[in-house]
Amino acid sequence: MNSLKKVSPTTKSDRPMLLPFVADGPVYTPGRMSFEGKKRVFKLSSNESPIGVSLKVVEAIKRTAAEQHLYPEADGGPLAYAIGEKYSLDPARILVGPGSDQIINWIVRSWLTIGDEAVYSNHGFQTYRIRTVTAGASAIAAPESAMKTDIAAILDSITDRTKVVFIANPNNPTGTYLTRDEVIELRSRIRPNILLVMDEAYYDYVDRPDYCSTIELVDDFGENTIVTRTFSKYFGMAGMRAGWAYVPSWTMGALSRVRGPFTVSKIALEAAIACLDDTEYQKASLAHNQKWLPWLLNAIRSLGYETTESVANFVLMKIPGGTEAAVEFDKNLRDLGFIGRLAHQNNLPDWLRLTIGSEQAMVGLAAALKKLNE
Ligand SMILES: Cc1ncc(COP(=O)(O)O)c(C=O)c1O
Repeated sequence: MNSLKKVSPTTKSDRPMLLPFVADGPVYTPGRMSFEGKKRVFKLSSNESPIGVSLKVVEAIKRTAAEQHLYPEADGGPLAYAIGEKYSLDPARILVGPGSDQIINWIVRSWLTIGDEAVYSNHGFQTYRIRTVTAGASAIAAPESAMKTDIAAILDSITDRTKVVFIANPNNPTGTYLTRDEVIELRSRIRPNILLVMDEAYYDYVDRPDYCSTIELVDDFGENTIVTRTFSKYFGMAGMRAGWAYVPSWTMGALSRVRGPFTVSKIALEAAIACLDDTEYQKASLAHNQKWLPWLLNAIRSLGYETTESVANFVLMKIPGGTEAAVEFDKNLRDLGFIGRLAHQNNLPDWLRLTIGSEQAMVGLAAALKKLNE
């Protein structure tokens, strides 16, 4: 009888060689979940909803619980349909996925490989760089000006090899945004055959008259712009993993092939459909942020710290004294029970991002910051 020959211990040369850009590629750093030795901590490191989960989502999860022996719809069709209804969009152009991070991955897989370039903003969301580099392509960081995406710098960073431009609007971790006119300018000045990906994970929080979703522009600039959205923040469903993108129809076939079937679970599909319907939850989510974002910005600024002009559900503050001082500050804040997120993955190692949390978290955080400032 044949038997498997055990090769032990394996050395590197015995192993099938990994793609080098995967083996040595950059790694996503998630927000810390907890802090050793502290029983009561406020996690302000992942931009999660501070108002808990929608009761309609809980009901949908309970309702679907007994159906888990069945596959979900392969393409998440019912959710695409519900999104289409809510935003008056063509469901055939809505790609749903287990979070927008994964959708960004599918976009990278569909367009970028060795020799290609993607341009993103220097302090942009870390996923663009990580996904691009682990596909073997190059991620080019365009400098920002005043902590904001700089259109001229994006244009300057584009080469013949550029195939995709990624912009988070508003951006994470700076919280700053491009106006409608700026997005129009950007789209009209980059080569038509470059895919512009507008990541609108924080779209629902923005309350500025000169801001608008690029979804409204996709039809005008249609064929080469994609907009991504998530259920993780404003809709309070980070744990469920659901997101979507509005895409040109000619891209749907390719993106669906890369996606594969059944990527959004039955529970997540039902939960996302339920939360789209829960306008009370959405109102509460917005009202909470509209109250506490300016409150926290003001509290931090009144202590003399520099912040960005965030319009999202987090603030970004500069810690004086450089990187080491920032690491120390972050640790001291955790000792007081508040977990923030240093933005070193975004080329801002001395800036700390703090999510808008519950009232108790915000009042406590302001007091903790005051204490650290004494
Ligand atoms: C700008 C931006 N885009 C996308 C995502 C990914 O969100 P998710 O994968 O939870 O949909 C995040 C999450 O923090 C984000 O900040």
